[in-house]
Amino acid sequence: MNAHSDSAHASPPLLEVRHLKVHFPVNRNLMGRPRAWVKAVDDVSFSIHKGETLSLVGESGCGKSTTGYALLGMLLPTSGELFFEGQPLDARDSQSRSLARRQMQIVFQDPFASLNPKMSVGESIGEPLRASGLSSQEAALRVEKLLDMVGLPRSCRDRLPNQFSGGQRQRIVIARALALQPRLIICDEPVSALDVSIRSQILNLLLELQRELDIAYLFISHDLSVVRHLSDRVAVMYLGHIVELAETEELFTHTLHPYTQALFSAIPRIEPGRKNTRRLILQGDLPSPLNPPRGCPLVTRCPHRQPVCEQSMPELQEIRPGHSVACFRADEWNR
Ligand SMILES: Nc1ncnc2c1ncn2[C@@H]1O[C@H](COP(=O)(O)OP(=O)(O)O)[C@@H](O)[C@H]1O
Ligand SMILES: [Mg+2]
Repeated sequence: MNAHSDSAHASPPLLEVRHLKVHFPVNRNLMGRPRAWVKAVDDVSFSIHKGETLSLVGESGCGKSTTGYALLGMLLPTSGELFFEGQPLDARDSQSRSLARRQMQIVFQDPFASLNPKMSVGESIGEPLRASGLSSQEAALRVEKLLDMVGLPRSCRDRLPNQFSGGQRQRIVIARALALQPRLIICDEPVSALDVSIRSQILNLLLELQRELDIAYLFISHDLSVVRHLSDRVAVMYLGHIVELAETEELFTHTLHPYTQALFSAIPRIEPGRKNTRRLILQGDLPSPLNPPRGCPLVTRCPHRQPVCEQSMPELQEIRPGHSVACFRADEWNR
C-alpha cells in the first residue's frame, strides 16, 4: 500500500475519472422514450494511483457497483471522461476497450456466479490468455503459475468449480483476473458472500498480490473495519455522489461530512484515536435516485441542514490536505 494524495503526483494517475455520470432510463412510454432516469452515478470525480487501494463505501444502492462497471466499459457512461495513465478511455472505441480490458479487471462478490460451471478451472483461468493470442502450451504454463500465486495446488486445473468451496472459488476468480497482468482490479464486495472465517484469508491474499505485483485496487465494500485495514484512501458515496474523500486514517480520525459521521456511528467501535466522536443518526429514509432531493443529496435527512442546503449542491472541496468534503458547513466541522 502506498500513501497518496492527488495533488502530490506529477505523473498522471493510473486511472482518472472526471465528472462521471451514469443515468439509467426507466419507465419507458409506448414510443420507447424514458419517462424518468435513475441517477445512479451523478458527477463523480476521483483518481487511483499505481499500486494504491482506493475504497468506495456507502449504503446499498448508492452507485458503487455502477461506478465500477462504467470504469470497465461494462456499461456506457451518460457523460464524463476516463483516462488511463493519461490516455482517454472511451467505451465506444474498440482500441480503447481492449486497453481497458487488458489493464483493468473485476472480481465480483459471488464466486459461484462468476465461474462457468462446465469449464474446468484451468480452462476458466486460461480463457483470457488464449483470447489474447497465447498458444495452449504457453497458456497452460501461465495457468500453473497463476494457481501458485493464489495459493491453490496445480492439480486444481482439471477439476470443475463445483468441487471447490466459496473461498477456493474466489481464489480461482482472482487467478483469472490476474491472467493478463492488469494494473487495476475492481474488487466489488469480494468477501461479502464468503464465510466469515475465510474472509481474512482472501483479503490477505489480495494484499500480498498487491505488494508483489504493485496492482491498484478499487475496493468496494460496506465493511468499514476491512476498509480501514486495507485502504490507502477512502471515498464515501451517497445517492450517486462522492461526499467525502481522504486518506484512510485522516477520514476515520477527522470525519467531517455528516453522512460519513452517520455511517461511522452505525458501527460500534472504530476508534482508537478518533477525535471526532459525535454520534449521528440520520432522520428518515434513503431517497430514491429516481427522485433525488434538490440541493445537497443529504438534505432530507441531515440534522444540520440550513436553507442553502436546499438550494444548491455543495461541491467537493479540499478542506484539509488531501481531504475533500462536499458540505456547506465543512469549515465548521473542521474546527
Ligand atoms: N440497469 C439498471 N437500471 C436501472 N437502475 C439501475 C440499474 N443498475 C443499477 N440501478 C440502480 O442504480 C442505483 C445504484 O446501484 P448500484 O450501483 O448497484 O449500487 P451499489 O453497488 O452501491 O449497491 C440503485 O438505485 C440501483 O437500483
Ligand atoms: Mg453493488
